[in-house]
Amino acid sequence: MEPGNLINGRAIAAQVLADLRPRLAALRARGVQPGLVFVRVGEDPASRVYVGRKEKTAAELGIRSETHVLPENASEAELLELLDRLNRDEQWHGILVQAPLPRQIRPERVYAAIRPDKDVDGFHPINMGRLLLGDPGGFRPCTPAGIQELLVRAGISWEGAHVVILGRGNIVGKPLAALLCQKAPRANATVTLCHSATRDLAAHCRRADILVAAMGVPEFVTADMVRPGAVVVDVGVNRVPDPGAKGGSRLVGDVAFAAVQPIAGRITPNPGGVGPMTIAMLMQNTVQAAEQLTA
Ligand code: GUN
Repeated sequence: MEPGNLINGRAIAAQVLADLRPRLAALRARGVQPGLVFVRVGEDPASRVYVGRKEKTAAELGIRSETHVLPENASEAELLELLDRLNRDEQWHGILVQAPLPRQIRPERVYAAIRPDKDVDGFHPINMGRLLLGDPGGFRPCTPAGIQELLVRAGISWEGAHVVILGRGNIVGKPLAALLCQKAPRANATVTLCHSATRDLAAHCRRADILVAAMGVPEFVTADMVRPGAVVVDVGVNRVPDPGAKGGSRLVGDVAFAAVQPIAGRITPNPGGVGPMTIAMLMQNTVQAAEQLTA
């Protein structure tokens, strides 16, 4: 039986991509093919999978892409030199350096070295600042923008809702809080940002109209933490040991899905919820970059 309260991220991501097609056609009519270049450092298996999916989606849309892979022991200077070349190469409208990076490379240095007008990840301090200020000209980080879009298209309103976010990371929690607290359409939420030092975290969770789990702890959100009828968004991707599974491990979210799904009003499946939206928003940011850079 298909549970009726699932939010279908795959179907909604496909709508977002379909909406990009006329914009891509308009660019093509002007002789512009958007270009998106990826950089990976090392062979983190999850990063290989994520970048592979992004490349595949780009190809399906007619966005040119290429992936540069630096060795695990590459220096920060090598990566910055590569980014300098990509910044100046006109065929690339978007540049994405996949996180996580090896220890010798400081992510804040890397993200600050990408041209802000090619920063389709939205991680450059200029774009983070624009996000905080509510300036729509910047790039919004893909996972927060994807979560916002997912619920809007599922018919759920952020307006006036009490949103509780678990996790204050720079990729999801912190920028999502900045996005949703704006006095703007599709936002205007009351945001509580919880983290590892939050006292009585379960009590905060139970007051949420919309609960977003993005702290990277396997199956942390249990049924007793969710108010019946609340909307639950699971951003987590955690590999946990499972002797019974093939390869000896399996992926779980930050939400104990089987227990929470029956009491949630709506809930994102995982996989098939937030993940496809992140990729769709990356494509949207890339189209925006190509439009702005060639205007
Ligand atoms: N690692 C996990 N999420 C992301 C993302 O949105 N962008 C990049 N570059 N790396 C990530």
